[in-house]
Amino acid sequence: MCGIVGYIGPRRAEGVLLDGLRRLEYRGYDSAGVAVLDSGDVAVVKAAGRVQDLADRLSRRPLKGKSGIAHTRWATHGEPNDVNAHPHVDCGSSIALVHNGIIENHGALRRRLEEHGHAFRSETDSEVLVHLIEEYATGDRPFEEALVRALKDAVGTFGIAVMSLKEPEVIYGAKRGSPLVVGLGNRRDEFFIASDPAALLAYTREVIYPDDDEVVRLSVEGVETFSLDRVPQEKSVESISWSLDEIERGRFPHFMLKEIFEQPEVVVNAVRGRLDAENGMAVLGGLRDVEERLRGVERLTVVACGSACLAGAIGEYMLEEYAEIPTEVELASEFRYRKPVLDPRREAVIAVSQSGETADTIGALREAREKGVLTLGVVNAVGSTIARETDAGVFIHAGPEIAVASTKAFLAQVTVMALLAVFLGRQRRMSRVMGGRICREILALPEKIGRILEQNDRIRSVAEKYAHYSSALYLGRKYNAPVALEGALKLKEIAYIHAEGYAAGEMKHGPIALLDSSFPVMAVATRDSVFEKMKSNIEEVRARRAPVLALATEGDEEMYRLADDVIYVPKTLEMLSPILNVIPFQIFAYHAAVARGFDPDKPRNLAKSVTVE
Ligand code: F6R
Repeated sequence: MCGIVGYIGPRRAEGVLLDGLRRLEYRGYDSAGVAVLDSGDVAVVKAAGRVQDLADRLSRRPLKGKSGIAHTRWATHGEPNDVNAHPHVDCGSSIALVHNGIIENHGALRRRLEEHGHAFRSETDSEVLVHLIEEYATGDRPFEEALVRALKDAVGTFGIAVMSLKEPEVIYGAKRGSPLVVGLGNRRDEFFIASDPAALLAYTREVIYPDDDEVVRLSVEGVETFSLDRVPQEKSVESISWSLDEIERGRFPHFMLKEIFEQPEVVVNAVRGRLDAENGMAVLGGLRDVEERLRGVERLTVVACGSACLAGAIGEYMLEEYAEIPTEVELASEFRYRKPVLDPRREAVIAVSQSGETADTIGALREAREKGVLTLGVVNAVGSTIARETDAGVFIHAGPEIAVASTKAFLAQVTVMALLAVFLGRQRRMSRVMGGRICREILALPEKIGRILEQNDRIRSVAEKYAHYSSALYLGRKYNAPVALEGALKLKEIAYIHAEGYAAGEMKHGPIALLDSSFPVMAVATRDSVFEKMKSNIEEVRARRAPVLALATEGDEEMYRLADDVIYVPKTLEMLSPILNVIPFQIFAYHAAVARGFDPDKPRNLAKSVTVE
């Protein structure tokens, strides 16, 4: 949430910053702004709306300086407008700051600063930071000292980039609970700072990840890292494996469609080198160090948010059926505040997160760590907070996910949950034959996904048919109950159609009251152990004259008797069926959004990577 980027080096900063903001726009698109050191001044240009609105403004007022900071905003405090856009400046317009996170004690700080004569311009929590630094940067006190004093006063989360006329050729960054990465230019004569590696990839792959309560100082001479007590910190240089192609849209009209179409490859990448079909094993190097501890685990809790939580819910079915480990899935935002009872001798907590930066999931993870429980991560972003703070884990290797609505990361998360079920199952009572069967079926998935993608045009026409309804009910059972919830989530978040996802057996306990000819039902009715029950549920829906769109197994002609529209998916093992069944719902939501005239990549009010609670 909120993208920040900073640059110092030989190029004109404006271009680098705008390029970085475009790549970070998925983190927020309420407003954008830059501050550049220009002819001895801190020149600030901001605009409500998209990065393009800022670019238009800058084209009328180009900035020539070679160091600067920039921001794309997802509004928390204060509505999206020019004034609330970052960067924020102090009273003397000599310090500029961009911020991602929430300063929880901003009210008290603001009152104190106002009493001392500071004049605030915006309604944001972020602006207090820049005035606080100004407050401390008096006389000949070094800027750095003022900065750390201010950060010590701040309660809450921040990833910041800040520049000051007091040290004109320097950019400072700092973090607590919000992501921050520093990029080292290839010739070491330019340096970058950003909330997300996507902003840096066009320039460098070598990065440093500052830890919480660390400050970085970027100048053309290099990067220094120190603690809030100004003790220098040694940092290792890491390499980003994502490629530039992966963060570009290519021939696709939207990132979301591109990411949906990447899914055959996503499964290949998630399982590469990890399946030993002959011995029926999943080989998970990231769990090697905790393998013995995992043998003794008798209970698992999966913590996550949104789609990642639904991937975890599918994992719950897999882990209980195949590894026979009692498993609970919990919304991270609930888990962290409800005083969960955990036994560190027998339990483990799995945090599932694409970004690895979701504030609630980090909070839940820390709660588990405090209780001494073994923690595992199922994460996409290498170097992210969750990846670094878990004891062990399995990367999903989905590549960068740019569209705000998760598709390929969800698929990779479910795939990795299947690998975990095999890994943990084989540690327990799962037979080699069963393990081998699951491995072989996983290997067959990419081709089957391809068969679903071939139906894109047909799914588009179905989506166009249903796009004018104002509500929809998604139904599924057992492994596909979470798929129903995920289908509904996709539709509401990008097409703004009110959609409910329900375990089909629950329909008659309430939601059936909603159904009539204006309320369509999307039913997962593929051939599995609950198929007959699902068919009865569809009959119940039809009796209320609700239009039905069914997902059915290839060859199931009978389904046309029950449903108005049918989308066919290939047969697979029941435990893996969510990996196939979710795809038509992703494509359906995408086309419904486009048909309704919305941008599926940038749904209103949402942003990728929810770094605030
Ligand atoms: C929905 C969606 C969100 C995320 C959720 C968790 O399409 O993308 O619900 O799944 O915000 O994000 P991560 O996986 O980054 O923790």
